[in-house]
Amino acid sequence: MELGWCGAVGRGTRRRPPMHATERPLALVTGASSGIGRELARQFGLNGHDVIMAADGREKLEEARMRLQGDVPAARFETLVADLSTREGVDRLYRSLGARPIAVLAANAGGGVAGRFSETDLDDELSVIQLNVSGQVHLVKLVLRDMLARGEGRILITSSLVSLSPGPFMAIYAATKAFLRSFGLAIRNELEHAPVTVTVLMPGATETDFFESADMEDTNIAQGAKDDPADVAKEAYEALMKGSAQVVSGTANKLRAAAARITPDTALAQINRDQARSEDGRQD
Ligand SMILES: NC(=O)c1ccc[n+]([C@@H]2O[C@H](COP(=O)([O-])OP(=O)(O)OC[C@H]3O[C@@H](n4cnc5c(N)ncnc54)[C@H](OP(=O)(O)O)[C@@H]3O)[C@@H](O)[C@H]2O)c1
Repeated sequence: MELGWCGAVGRGTRRRPPMHATERPLALVTGASSGIGRELARQFGLNGHDVIMAADGREKLEEARMRLQGDVPAARFETLVADLSTREGVDRLYRSLGARPIAVLAANAGGGVAGRFSETDLDDELSVIQLNVSGQVHLVKLVLRDMLARGEGRILITSSLVSLSPGPFMAIYAATKAFLRSFGLAIRNELEHAPVTVTVLMPGATETDFFESADMEDTNIAQGAKDDPADVAKEAYEALMKGSAQVVSGTANKLRAAAARITPDTALAQINRDQARSEDGRQD
């Protein structure tokens, strides 16, 4: 596994970056090299934070850092390369933070795998569970304890609109997102009187690399209308700062979420099946 501070402190070095003369609160965003995570990092930068951007792919992450640093010069963006689907990766990421206080954690890294469960690759699916579930739980536990010890903090957990319904042909992905929603809302309740808030983000289909990574590019959902990740991130940031329990991004998705709450699960499964259907009929 590869891990090291780079960007503002020079790629590959492990020295801590120098402190700013006027310290800005620090946001840690996982899955920050593209899509929703990159736009979340931008939001934090635009709104007075310095940002540690974490992802597994070094080159893409550094490209994203340079782009954000150019767009938002007032903030300092750093990168941390870590495979968050492994226990070792999360541990080492956490150790690399040292004593630096994380004001905001956006636990956003995630991936999917598509196809008929009886035919998909088990290792791919276990890896998605390790990234979306085990990695998220592990990182949130470590960072939350520090926030509680310091007496402040905000945590954003990226779930999905699909967390509200079964996801045929993306069964494992949808189940991991249901886990994250339940997990986030449960620990939020436990923290009712604590100085740390937890907000669950539930985006609908969003224009990111996700569909390509999950091999879903030819599905109806990937071919249909998608939200802009910048809009999703802005809505998420505002909900996080308000301390909201959960946020479904986008008006159409809010309506879908409301409908999902009064629709039988079997019907929801069928709707998602149609969404996951590919043009070539692979999933008919
Ligand atoms: N796009 C949608 O329609 C949609 C809808 C609802 C929810 N979401 C959720 O939104 C979150 C962000 O996804 P996105 O749509 O923005 O897709 P994306 O552009 O593919 O971003 C995924 C991010 O996760 C990182 N990542 C993947 N595997 C990792 C690993 N093992 N360790 C560390 N980082 C890893 C990726 O970087 P590397 O690959 O370089 O590591 C990338 O930065 C995910 O949790 C996803 O489930 C997406």
